[in-house]
Amino acid sequence: MKALGIDIGGSAIKGGIVNLKTGSLVTERFRIETEKQLTPPDMAKAIAQIIKHFKWKGPVGIGFPGVIHGTRILTSANLHPDFIDCDGVKLFSRKTGSKVALTNDAAAAALAEMKFGKGKNFQGKVLLLTLGTGVGSALAYRGNVTPLELGHLLFEGKDAEKVVASSVRKKKDLSWGIWGRKLGAYIRVLEDALWPELIVIGGGVSAKHEKFFKYIKARAKVVPAGLLNEAGIVGAALWAVQK
Ligand code: BGC
Repeated sequence: MKALGIDIGGSAIKGGIVNLKTGSLVTERFRIETEKQLTPPDMAKAIAQIIKHFKWKGPVGIGFPGVIHGTRILTSANLHPDFIDCDGVKLFSRKTGSKVALTNDAAAAALAEMKFGKGKNFQGKVLLLTLGTGVGSALAYRGNVTPLELGHLLFEGKDAEKVVASSVRKKKDLSWGIWGRKLGAYIRVLEDALWPELIVIGGGVSAKHEKFFKYIKARAKVVPAGLLNEAGIVGAALWAVQK
């Protein structure tokens, strides 16, 4: 069983065909850079381009960086504001001619990590954070994933993701130590509320975990995502076939 997983991010849209038994990509990733914010119809075109690239006819799952209720997108902190209140499933299905399933990007990554990555066979409470353009979050307990929006908690007087996202470190050219300590302080706030047993850090920066994990003094064990930056694609593909 295979599905096409698409991960919509702040700077690129990535897709790949995923073997749902093993959680591995059976193709190279296909990536479309998005230097400027795409409007919803242009995003639908980009998704159609990915489907066409793979000549794909099967299930399609999409991870979107915002709150999803049912088929609707309710927030769009880092993408075009026209996504707010847009029926994403309707728009993407209509423009691509494929039936798509839509979920939050961090929830997708958490699904993949719980099934194939660092949460595999773990029944306890797991907090997953994705650090990229924004901060994605999801909680898993007994393997069930709940999307969260912890990136928008108030931290240091700001929207937390404006302080601790990986994009902020790059934009402000912060040292790993300065950024890592801020991230550590933020994670301690999350820990006091959620008490996870395991914290999984995903997003592109998770590949460089040895540069900043040392600054995170958490109660829980902190690990990089097993699927690194592919968790979003794999999880979106899993979502496509979830009942
Ligand atoms: C969005 C979340 C998303 C995260 C990571 C945040 O700005 O509100 O829904 O999961 O970015 O992309």
